Amino acid sequence: MAYENIRLESQGPVTTLTIDRPKALNALNSKTLQEIESALQSLTSETRVLILTGGGEKSFVAGADIAEMSAISASQAREFAALGHRVMAALESLPCVTIAAVNGFALGGGCELALGCDLIYASEKAKLGLPEVSLGVIPGFGGTQRLARLVGKMRAKELIFTGGHIPAAQAKEYGLVLEVLPPEQLMEHCRTVATKMLKNGPLAISQAKRVIEFGADQDLRAANELERQGFAALFGSEDQREGMKAFLEKRAAAFTGK
Ligand code: HXC
Repeated sequence: MAYENIRLESQGPVTTLTIDRPKALNALNSKTLQEIESALQSLTSETRVLILTGGGEKSFVAGADIAEMSAISASQAREFAALGHRVMAALESLPCVTIAAVNGFALGGGCELALGCDLIYASEKAKLGLPEVSLGVIPGFGGTQRLARLVGKMRAKELIFTGGHIPAAQAKEYGLVLEVLPPEQLMEHCRTVATKMLKNGPLAISQAKRVIEFGADQDLRAANELERQGFAALFGSEDQREGMKAFLEKRAAAFTGK
């Protein structure tokens, strides 16, 4: 499918989705969000790791599109937020691993997009933040909730109330990004992490993602029950048999994802 504002490129099991509207610092207008949504729907089990990044030199995603939002009504705002929430939920529900390669500004909806990914790595040039209150609104793509769950309620309040842009190193200190890399090493680092994951059982990684993701919102008892079910569900799969057999035969496993 031909996209206008994104690029979707696969190299074997690693797919890269680049948000590519550099003239607006990759701001998310409705069209871009719809394109991301349809790109996510188009992924097949061939894709084991999805890397999201921003086109151009300066920006991952500088937020939702302020020009578009400036002209919408409250009911259109509800639909716009719902579209963004669908994209983040789709990222969390994907069976593949999602990595945000934050190459520059990740502000507002851009920071929220990164928060929808499993892992966030950032360039030394990146700046992150949720500056929505400076525009008279609040984060609307799940940022109030995901940021608070990730870095704690008080730090999330500080970041959201001040609306500041924090450098990548500070974001790492807060636990909002995993690692900070020189700009030219960011994508390579993400691919290296992807390669390490590709050696492991695809079904097991998907199951681990599902259990962590859906268990995080439940009490420990219910979450542990999810884990028990997920663990048992893998038994009888070819990957489980192959993984254990390969260990006993002292060789590398050849997983098929079945
Ligand atoms: C639309 C944007 C944009 C955005 C940048 N641009 N961010 N357009 N929406 N979010 C456009 C600018 O208007 C400008 O277009 C071009 O990109 C380059 O931006 P500059 O401001 O000239 O660049 P610079 O001076 O380097 O400043 C970079 C910046 C600044 C610090 C990132 O652009 C900025 O503060 N952007 C807005 C960040 C923000 O508030 N994001 C949160 C949005 S609200 P022209 O045509 O003039 O060259 C949000 C809500 C999510 O995300 C939830 C919704 C439901």
